[in-house]
Amino acid sequence: MPPSFFRALERETYAHEPFSANPVLVSSEVNLERVLINYSSLVMWIVPILRIVRDRAAEEGYDHLVKELTRNIAEELGSESEGVAHREIFADCLKEHFGIEVICKTSPRLSHYDPATESFINSLLALVREGSFADALGVIYALEVTATPELRVLGRLINQLAIEKGGTPPLTDEHLLGADTKGEFAHNTTTIQGFLVNHVSTWEAGHRDLLEVAINDSHALCSEAPREAIASGYRNVLGQMTLWWRAMATL
Ligand SMILES: [Fe+2]
Ligand SMILES: [Fe+2]
Repeated sequence: MPPSFFRALERETYAHEPFSANPVLVSSEVNLERVLINYSSLVMWIVPILRIVRDRAAEEGYDHLVKELTRNIAEELGSESEGVAHREIFADCLKEHFGIEVICKTSPRLSHYDPATESFINSLLALVREGSFADALGVIYALEVTATPELRVLGRLINQLAIEKGGTPPLTDEHLLGADTKGEFAHNTTTIQGFLVNHVSTWEAGHRDLLEVAINDSHALCSEAPREAIASGYRNVLGQMTLWWRAMATL
């Protein structure tokens, strides 16, 4: 697979709706608490989604992908964050900072979210279960590529909600840019600052880059047909995600 394949896909991210124009950032009447609860679905469901693709990779004998997805899942479950799963860190931070309960933090239920989120997650699950294997790879590649810009949107929403509640925004620009890698929070992974800094500076780039490497090392996936399917799964998710963010701006 030429490296330009992934770079070209990545360039499509938000090409039709740039990150700075994310609807929840430009709308003045966003229900911030509901958006945060709905966003938590992505944090809660990433492990089940990755597990489905990892298990399919195992069935199809793609050892490089099994190894990387197992590593990614372990990271989501706390291998680099004091043994605490990212979904638990995020749920605890929402509770601590805003008193928001993400009640399904260990066993997510889709009924917890607004209909736009329920159908978005259901669609992701259907794509990774029922699409071709290459399609499913495109789906998770899209989730890893968009994770960093979306975490920055999340960080801004958290700051906005803190201000709305009369408090101090907990995140600085350095946290949102992942630039504060030597700061006190870089090693304090279970705080909201550590959650943002480590995801943006290291974890998500690792998920994206090492997934690319594992796909490239799987020679059967490097011909024209699987490449087209990866691109199609990727574009499908980007399109749905754009619509989902629009829905979030109107909750
Ligand atoms: Fe994570
Ligand atoms: Fe990730």
